[in-house]
Amino acid sequence: MEYANNILETIGKTPLVKLNSLTAELPCLVLAKYETFNPGNSVKDRMALQMVEDAEVAGILKPGGTIIEGTSGNTGMGLALAAVVKGYKMICVISDKQSKEKIDILKAVGSEVHVCPTDVAPEDPRSYYSTAKRLSKEIPNSWYVNQYDNPSNCKAHYLSTGPEIWEQTDGKVTHFVVGVGTGGTISGVGSYLKQQNPNVKVWGIDTYGSVFKKYHETGIFDENEIYPYVTEGIGEDILPKNVNFGIIDGFTKVTDKDAAVYTQRLAKEEGMFLGNSAGAAIKGLLQLKEHFSKDDVVVVLFHDHGSRYVGKMFNDDWMREKGYID
Ligand SMILES: Cc1ncc(COP(=O)(O)O)c(C=O)c1O
Repeated sequence: MEYANNILETIGKTPLVKLNSLTAELPCLVLAKYETFNPGNSVKDRMALQMVEDAEVAGILKPGGTIIEGTSGNTGMGLALAAVVKGYKMICVISDKQSKEKIDILKAVGSEVHVCPTDVAPEDPRSYYSTAKRLSKEIPNSWYVNQYDNPSNCKAHYLSTGPEIWEQTDGKVTHFVVGVGTGGTISGVGSYLKQQNPNVKVWGIDTYGSVFKKYHETGIFDENEIYPYVTEGIGEDILPKNVNFGIIDGFTKVTDKDAAVYTQRLAKEEGMFLGNSAGAAIKGLLQLKEHFSKDDVVVVLFHDHGSRYVGKMFNDDWMREKGYID
């Protein structure tokens, strides 16, 4: 018999899938690291489990404890699965711009969900960063995960996602392209790949309204770059410790409209039913086309599943209201 002892053992070892139609104009091979095959349907299952297990070992997460996290949904899902299997209580603090599906899904896997306003500064007591921190002080035997600054986030990708991409491409990967939020994925995968081959180029996908690109290029944290945006999962108004700017070769920014339109195009033209940051990632990759040549093997990582966006990017009325389609 071949079986996993629990759902957590099925995390990782996701497929690498060739893109065909959307990338037809590019000279190189483009492969998608297809993370929706994880049990929580996103890449975040990997770092969620790593953060929980490292906290158990460090003695900061104790039996019967409560896990608290500010999460746009996917990390919450991964943490919730770990909490169910390992017997912890889970509280997710989420911003109100996130899709309703994400909130309902978190509740479905037993999480308590607190919804906070998006359009307030991170230090505002109503923000989801502040609310998560406050709850962790108020609730006894609780642990605030803090995926932004928790080094186990990056470590998970250094230990699993990076080695998988290296092995699946037989060490031929030349470029890694990925959306950046907490920075865990780009920093963990990027540093592993660059250790194997320093010539591998690592590109981050950013969004308009986020500080990353300008900070990377100038070292300036420019508050004028910060404004509300629609794209989910990527970009930040803070500098998380998990973004290792030193291993990132460059950022490209993708508009909300392009990210939404390319999320639909991935589904309709590649049969890849994926989340909004996948649309941003593939559009960003196409924006970088002058950096690729014939023998390159470009790996793009797709974070999460389309089912979480049926009320938004996969709803044509919503797309029309936003002016993204006619
Ligand atoms: C859908 C989605 N895409 C991209 C990201 C960014 O990944 P990372 O936080 O590893 O930078 C996230 C993170 O929350 C996400 O949920």
